Amino acid sequence: MSQPDIRLGLIGTGTIGKMHLLSLAALRESKLIDLEISAICDIESSTLKNASELFEVETTYSDYQNLIDDEDVNVVYVCTPTNKHRDMVIAAAKAQKAVFCEKPLAHSGPQAQDLYMITKSHNIQAAIGLVLRFDQFLVHAKQLIQKYDFGKPMLAHIRDDQRFPVDYIYASKWRMDRSIAGGGTLIEHSIHDIDVLQWFFGPVEHVYATVNNFNGFDVEDHASLVLTHHDGCVSTLDSVWHWVERPNERRFEFFFENGYLGIKLESDKRYVEYQLKGERPVKLWAESVNTTLIEHLDLDEQNLSTEAYETLTQVGSERYAALSYSFLKSIRDQTEMVPGFKEGVSAHRIVDAAYESADKAARISLS
Ligand SMILES: NC(=O)c1ccc[n+]([C@@H]2O[C@H](COP(=O)([O-])OP(=O)(O)OC[C@H]3O[C@@H](n4cnc5c(N)ncnc54)[C@H](O)[C@@H]3O)[C@@H](O)[C@H]2O)c1
Repeated sequence: MSQPDIRLGLIGTGTIGKMHLLSLAALRESKLIDLEISAICDIESSTLKNASELFEVETTYSDYQNLIDDEDVNVVYVCTPTNKHRDMVIAAAKAQKAVFCEKPLAHSGPQAQDLYMITKSHNIQAAIGLVLRFDQFLVHAKQLIQKYDFGKPMLAHIRDDQRFPVDYIYASKWRMDRSIAGGGTLIEHSIHDIDVLQWFFGPVEHVYATVNNFNGFDVEDHASLVLTHHDGCVSTLDSVWHWVERPNERRFEFFFENGYLGIKLESDKRYVEYQLKGERPVKLWAESVNTTLIEHLDLDEQNLSTEAYETLTQVGSERYAALSYSFLKSIRDQTEMVPGFKEGVSAHRIVDAAYESADKAARISLS
């Protein structure tokens, strides 16, 4: 029997590693991609055993280098805490294996740029977990902007709140340790939002930021940013980690010359709403947007199995499945993956500028 095109090895079977394994198993079962999960690795034996049983992966390693050296593995997923990303990405690049790395890539823009250059010089395909690029509501909003005449963007606002990621679905405490995470709510969580702002409104030229540490942890629990984009649009981002027992929530409000777009994510009631000048508001719930990714990925709904349809429409997990589908397809077709490390570096530069701005209480210009 011939080997599948994609023989994947995943390092770090914690919270997000399991989410990826779930999506990858769903992609495999639904035959959307010719894929085998060949090996997994974790330093925690109980976590590894649990993942091995859950996802029926026989080959397990406690040393990531052994997974990377495994000849049955040709694609490596790095899902460990941030300070571990560098060595693993470099090892995968040296072994000439395509690599997916979770965000943030590193602790700073220059470190992320270094990783990007290493993947370039080894000529391997590299993707980053900036998964909001595959959120069905955001992709739908993008399609609305293409379809209707919203005009020039003027103002964008994102409010992102998350309960401190140290309990509930998060079993580990490393996010409160700067030497591991690199920072708090801004780099660890809202790097996603910065990527969304640049994806929708183009490159950022100036950054002004205030960052706080209200709860006295090693990392910031609040960041507010004012960003000026290349074409003059201004975006603001408010990001907070708090102790309130409420669903995490991202709210997006985008104002254009001719219209308004709003998106609410994460909490159970997600939607996209819009209103064009002179027209009535329209609000779209999940059932009205959930074939968006199928179209976005150029798949034919009529030819999809029930499992494949569910994998790409299920609110919350659809992003991970679509991101992996897109990356694994780009490896097979030898096309460039977006978001790749390049987009990661670009988001990291804004994060760095925001920390610098807060530190100096000054507006930072990015040339
Ligand atoms: N894109 C997203 O939506 C998203 C969501 C959550 C986390 N993340 C990112 O994913 C990464 C992991 O986060 P998490 O929440 O899954 O953390 P986690 O603590 O739940 O899991 C990390 C796992 O890595 C393992 N590990 C640590 N060092 C290792 C090593 N040297 N070799 C093998 N395994 C090792 C740990 O034992 C643990 O099981 C972080 O970079 C985080 O920012 C991304």
